Amino acid sequence: MNNKNSQIVTNDLKHIWHPCTQMKDHETLPLIPINRGKGVYLYDFDDKSYIDAISSWWVNIFGHVNEHISKRVKEQLDTLEHVLLAGFTHKPAVELSEKLVEITPKGLNKVFFADNGSSAVEVALKMSFHYHQNKGENRPLFLSLSNSYHGETIGALSVGDVELYKETYAPLLISCIQTPVPKDQSQESAKEAIVELEKILKERGSEISAFIIEPLVQGAGSMHMYHPLYITKAKKVCEAHGVHLIADEIMTGFGRTGTLFACEQAGVTPDYMTLSKGLTGGYLPLAIVMTTDEIYNAFYCDYNEHKAFLHSHSYTGNPLACSAALATLELFKATDVIGENRKKSAYILEKLQKFKNLKNVKEVRQTGMISAIELKGYKAEERIGLKVYQHGLDNGVLLRPLGHIVYFMPPYIITYEEIDKMIDTAYDAIIKL
Ligand SMILES: Cc1ncc(COP(=O)(O)O)c(C=O)c1O
Repeated sequence: MNNKNSQIVTNDLKHIWHPCTQMKDHETLPLIPINRGKGVYLYDFDDKSYIDAISSWWVNIFGHVNEHISKRVKEQLDTLEHVLLAGFTHKPAVELSEKLVEITPKGLNKVFFADNGSSAVEVALKMSFHYHQNKGENRPLFLSLSNSYHGETIGALSVGDVELYKETYAPLLISCIQTPVPKDQSQESAKEAIVELEKILKERGSEISAFIIEPLVQGAGSMHMYHPLYITKAKKVCEAHGVHLIADEIMTGFGRTGTLFACEQAGVTPDYMTLSKGLTGGYLPLAIVMTTDEIYNAFYCDYNEHKAFLHSHSYTGNPLACSAALATLELFKATDVIGENRKKSAYILEKLQKFKNLKNVKEVRQTGMISAIELKGYKAEERIGLKVYQHGLDNGVLLRPLGHIVYFMPPYIITYEEIDKMIDTAYDAIIKL
């Protein structure tokens, strides 16, 4: 590490407590200081480059320092940087709302702003519970899929089911039960899981406010994937029991699964759709909960009826973040991003065939621009993900496996040559394990 790199690392470790990290690991695992980004690349202070194969936690869908997004944010910066969204409004928020209503499934006409994914999940949960209260029903329970992940704040953690994040905080959590996620991408598994959902809702449906799902792909839950038929059927079953369906598209939204939103593949309009991550092209924190007129109207009455949704965050609907989001949507309009993504994901899938012959590979799976290789034969203590991560860094690729799942979620602008490098680096790492 050169002087500049190591100086930053030393200064960082004096004060910064990094997210999702056992800080002691950094005694042996070097922290990577990043000086700048361009396209799919991140560069350290020595100008060593890394292909960001995970879009920096799934947010930079058009890569780093995109000219168009930067320009729009800079323009906004000289016009209005922030204003509260209670009692006030601004053009970027209004324009963004109009555009989102246009492109999300029909019927999602109302837009509630938040500022990060977990807080959007909190909003959807509270809104659903409150809706039922406003309608004179007490439904204190939530339902989610086994193996799900919806964020780290208390409510979001409660509806998640990844033990690693949740276990310690069990005494603090709100009431939530799980129904089995379809075990693979087949229609049969989807149908089997629906039978379980029907059973649970028959028994406890009247206690449940909402069923929250990550449509098609469970991100932090090992990139587990399932068939859209499950969502189509789940919506109907939920409806029959007056249970809301929350589609958490924080990771899957904005083209990641092969359609603009994963719900489109199921032909479903959920009661709530949570959006964040790719929304601003990875520029600024912003999150949104889309919902229906019917739900909005359950809160609309005279103030003294005490039915208003009194939820807020200081940075709700920040104009800079809304401008980044508008610019991101413009990029979808400017070229056939989804069509190009389909070609790239077909190419990735073809390249992944060679992994299937490896004795330490259990499964290769893909949905749109998310591809995963599940390894087998290792104990958790071996931390093989870390070995793949280290090999990736040594060879200029940022891979960040989830335990024994090596996955690719690159920016959509990745070239075919960069795809080759990303996949070949992972392959070399896996054969060396
Ligand atoms: C499906 C899903 N929901 C919610 C979240 C939480 O978002 P944030 O990290 O912005 O709080 C994530 C983050 O990975 C996610 O993948």
